[in-house]
Formats: sequence, C-alpha cells, structure tokens
Amino acid sequence: MIIEPRMRGFICTTSHPKGCEQNVKNQIEYIKSKGPIAGAKKVLVIGASTGFGLASRITSAFGSDASTIGVFFEKAPSEGKTASPGWYNSAAFENEAHKAGLYAKSVNGDAFSNEIKKQTLNLIKADLGQVDLVIYSLASPVRMHPVTGVLHRSVLKPIGSTFTNKTVDFHSGKVSEISIEPCSGDDIENTVAVMGGEDWGMWIDALKAENLLAPGATTVAYSYIGPSLTEAVYRKGTIGRAKDHLEATAFSITDSLADIEGKAFVSVNKALVTQASSAIPVIPLYISLLYKIMKEEGIHEGCIEQIQRLYQERLYTGNEVPVDEKGRIRIDDLEMRPDVQEKVAKLWVEAVTENLSEIGDLEGYRKDFYNLFGFDVEGVDYKADTNEVVNIESIV
Ligand code: NAI
Ligand code: NA
Repeated sequence: MIIEPRMRGFICTTSHPKGCEQNVKNQIEYIKSKGPIAGAKKVLVIGASTGFGLASRITSAFGSDASTIGVFFEKAPSEGKTASPGWYNSAAFENEAHKAGLYAKSVNGDAFSNEIKKQTLNLIKADLGQVDLVIYSLASPVRMHPVTGVLHRSVLKPIGSTFTNKTVDFHSGKVSEISIEPCSGDDIENTVAVMGGEDWGMWIDALKAENLLAPGATTVAYSYIGPSLTEAVYRKGTIGRAKDHLEATAFSITDSLADIEGKAFVSVNKALVTQASSAIPVIPLYISLLYKIMKEEGIHEGCIEQIQRLYQERLYTGNEVPVDEKGRIRIDDLEMRPDVQEKVAKLWVEAVTENLSEIGDLEGYRKDFYNLFGFDVEGVDYKADTNEVVNIESIV
C-alpha cells in the first residue's frame, strides 16, 4: 500500500509508519547527541505518544536510561486503515528502547478513566515498584468524568466578548479575518473539567494511595501563556481558565506530597505545531510568524529541543528548579523574548495572503504539520510499498 496524506478539515486521517519511525529516531539521535542527563530512572508519561509527551518519554529513556511506561489513546492499524501517528510513534519508540536494553511498556486507552489508571498502577506495581517522575501531557477535546459519568467537551472561545482577528488556513495560505463568539453556558466549567488539573490530581492521588511514588518524586504538567495577540482566544479564553486551574493544581499536589518530599511543577512551553495546536484559530498564523523570526535568530526549537532543555537546564541541574514569580518553570523564554515578540507583532499587522509565504514561515508550518503524521520526512521513501503491520510489542 502506498500511503498518502488525506485531509479532513484540520486533521489528517492517514499516517505513515516509516515517517513516524524516522521522526522518533531523529528525536532519539538528538537526545543522544546532547549527552547524559542525571534525571529520573523510572518514569510514567501520561500522553506519551505525540508532541511534548513523546519528547519527554524519549528524553527520559535516551537521556537518562530510564524505564518508561507510556499512557496514550491511539488507534491501532486495521484492515485498509493506517494507525494514528501516536501508535506508530510508540511502536517505533518501544522498538528502539528495547534494542537499547531499556524497559518500555505502554497502556493504550482513556487516561481519564478509572480502569486505565488501575491498569497503569498495576503495571508499575508489577514491573517498576515505584516511579520517580510523572509527566502529565494530555491534550484532549473531551473527558468522560470517572465519578459523575458526565462527558465534558472543551471549547476554544473567548470569554465575555467576540474576538475578531486574523487567522490563516495553512493549507491554502489564505489569511482572513475570523470572529469567534464568546463562550456561553457551561463552556468554562467544561473546558476546565477537560484540560484543567483535576485529572492530574487524580492520577497523583491514585499513585500515592498505592505507594507507587518514590521519595522525592516529581511530577510535571505542561502549560502555555503566549503573547497578547492570542490572549483573548488562548490565555484569557476558556482554555486559559483550564491552564489557570492546572497551574493552581501544581500547588495542591505539592502540598499533598509533603510527606514524601515530592513536588509538582508546571512547565510553560513554547508554541509548536501539534495536533492540539493546529485546531486553535489564530494560533497557526502566530506560529508561522514566530517560526520565521525564531529561525532567523537561530533560536527555533521543536518539542524535543524544548524538553531536552527542560530536563537539562531546569529539572536536573543538581540545584533548585528555577521558577517564575508564579512558581512556573519557563521554557517559553525564547518565544517570549521582547525583541522576538516585537518583530512578530509588527509582522502580524502586515500579514496578508499575498505576503505570508514571504514574511511568515508557512512552509515550515506545513512541513511540521505533515511531519506529525509521518509525511514529508527526510530520508523516507514514500514510493515504497508499506504493507507491514506495525504492532506495539508490550502494550497492556
Ligand atoms: P498532542 O496532541 O501532541 O498530545 C496529546 C497526547 O495525549 C497524546 O499522547 C494522546 O494520545 C494523549 N491523549 C489524548 N486524550 C487522551 C485520553 N483520553 N487518554 C489517554 N491519552 C490521551 O498535544 P501536545 O501539544 O503535546 O500537548 C500536550 C500538553 O502540552 C497540553 O497540556 C498542551 O496544552 C501543552 N502545550 C502545548 C503547546 C503547543 O503549542 N502545542 C504549547 C505549550 C503547552
Ligand atoms: Na503530548
């Protein structure tokens, strides 16, 4: 079978196993090239199959020789249908980890559910005893609440008033104005229920209740702030309320871990093309301008560079973890540099369909987007027949 990208709206419905494998190998090579990190040895990554979570799993395994358990929600390949990219990524990761003699097992299912938590806890109990790092990197549009049974849907909307600004359809390159109506009803509560910190807290409580957190264990979740340009739809919108909640949860988790001297952090990461971020209006235009500037300045980073720096220069320096005035780790420092933001703001005003491919990095955006699904990856022969079934050896 020759696999080609097939688009439906913001999403690509096919993915390429060889391309995903190559992406994972490239990330592993990057981590190896940066040398060892004195990090955690037994690591649970929740949301481990794509984006920042996958980068975290790779950094732990290949930077610190860590045993890793990854939790994710991905589709296996089936008759005539490719798997989801996170499936191929995880298959490739496990393959490489096992070749390197590293323990790696995965749990595929709804991380918000009691059942998947239980399975994961049992696996830790049986194989690792305890974990010393828990990365929480879920990005989901829905959450079935495990206690109430309510299905919450998150929305990406401004709060209070309609937000009108530019956006780009990155496939066509067309810049247009978009108006997003303010949220209503239970939109904020629902978004907080999905993307806030409640589930993170539930995971940590469950792990602690079964004595599966090692003394001094650390847990890290990922957040975003971004510039004033995107504030109305991001940080001051419904998703921002969820991030506020997530950030507040770090403090309550740290309190709950006092007796084992554990600590919870939120790391504020850079805006990057992932499946989650490409669905947010306005963000793709911002990212394409940001990429252009950061590449020109030689300070562009992808997920793996971000997480490598998080581990090497923030979490595992041997000194106290540096945080901002709100207790957050900042690896969005380069994105938020005043000179970078000034340049982006200037380009933002100028951006129209006719000049975007020049003043913005539309090509880079598209390439990153296709790369997410294993397409357009250097060194992959897309003309070759791909009919092998890729399985995850140690899925639970
Ligand atoms: P992503 O879409 O690449 O990864 C999401 C992960 O969650 C995948 O492993 C997926 O399988 C898993 N997942 C989703 N629903 C699940 C469920 N019900 N059960 C189990 N696993 C599930 O997303 P990305 O961008 O890596 O986001 C991770 C975190 O980083 C999010 O909190 C996001 O807000 C944050 N972040 C993202 C930024 C960006 O620009 N992409 C910037 C800063 C923070
Ligand atoms: Na992730």
